Amino acid sequence: MLQRMTPKDYSEFWERESSQFALDNIYARLSQLVPEEATLEIGCGAGWSTLSLAKTRPVLAVDNNTHLIGLAQSRLNDNGVTAQIIQSDLFEPSANLLSAIQAFQPKVVVGWFIGSHPDDNDKRTPANLRAEEKPKVYRESVEDRLVALPLCPPSVEWVHTVQRGGIPPGVTEAQVKEGMAKEYEKYMFNNSGFTVTDVQLLHWNQVAGKFPYVQTVRPDLPAGKPQPVIISILAHRKVSV
Ligand SMILES: C[S@@+](CC[C@H](N)C(=O)[O-])C[C@H]1O[C@@H](n2cnc3c(N)ncnc32)[C@H](O)[C@@H]1O
Repeated sequence: MLQRMTPKDYSEFWERESSQFALDNIYARLSQLVPEEATLEIGCGAGWSTLSLAKTRPVLAVDNNTHLIGLAQSRLNDNGVTAQIIQSDLFEPSANLLSAIQAFQPKVVVGWFIGSHPDDNDKRTPANLRAEEKPKVYRESVEDRLVALPLCPPSVEWVHTVQRGGIPPGVTEAQVKEGMAKEYEKYMFNNSGFTVTDVQLLHWNQVAGKFPYVQTVRPDLPAGKPQPVIISILAHRKVSV
């Protein structure tokens, strides 16, 4: 049986994986897709995302993994870049996080590569799910929180989420973008007051990474090896008339 990943193991995997993304310039490319305004980052990870965002805007970040927060803080310090990082579980925001959000008045909320170690997945997803179903349900549950109080106060105008995916054989990039926009409108942004304004697909060198991805089986899509991509989804608050 495979040994279960602890929060520390997860931090070591994510340090390696996100360092590969950084080498492929993914974080610099993603931060260019996000408006340069006060940004609340959900999940600082090993700090590569926080670093690239904080170079050009104020950033308040939250994470519950102390090992990753340590890596992120060192990465920021080594680069002479400042961001505020708060330790809290986003499913049970601490009083400290709530008052920091209130003071910060974010204009943007970002959640890139949302996921966590098996203990978090178990705690926040229905017990009857199979292990390989949990990461997607966990991500969707976090995504729902990106567009609701208290993480998304009325000051927020933009929400940006990023995930890995694949372009199946015979499917065009335009079709994938259209499909993702429809899916996110239906599941994440429905009734949230936000609407998708931009979907981008970034190519990257997945073979170099060692992260143990759980592949979601999609019987609705053509069989064959998909081309890996990183999917960026930007949404704007709808203007009320
Ligand atoms: C896959 S990493 C991505 C990190 C970073 N956004 C990046 O792009 O490199 C997901 C991060 O979200 C954090 N996270 C997941 N679930 C969380 C929760 N319930 N509360 C706080 N942080 C959480 C994890 O600890 C991890 O640092």
